[in-house]
Amino acid sequence: MCTANGSDQLAARARDAAALSAGRCRVLRGGCYGLCELGPNVVVREHEQGELPDENADRLSLTNAPGEAVYCVVAPAQVATLVAAHLDGTGPVQGWTRAAREAALPAASPTAARVRAVRRRRQR
Ligand code: FES
Repeated sequence: MCTANGSDQLAARARDAAALSAGRCRVLRGGCYGLCELGPNVVVREHEQGELPDENADRLSLTNAPGEAVYCVVAPAQVATLVAAHLDGTGPVQGWTRAAREAALPAASPTAARVRAVRRRRQR
């Protein structure tokens, strides 16, 4: 679903933003995070300088570890802002996080029901 909603364009913009980061940012493509209804999604993981994971490390799962931010319903035009916020230490960008996007869903919407179902499955 993320691909259908523009994740390829989003990834291209992320790579453009990362190219301007003097090696401080690496872009990896993930798989499905189970947040399809809210895609495309961006996961930002902050690491100590010099400790960037290799390109295949831990890329397909959410870790909920400190320093991990999950953004949903991300538009390509928002990527540069996300990258800049995390590089300058002002991130996460609160209004675009998974929690903010989920909170903005009307409670009775089919999307909200699917998101709640995914959350319940993950908690088992
Ligand atoms: S396809 Fe993107 S989270 Fe499932």
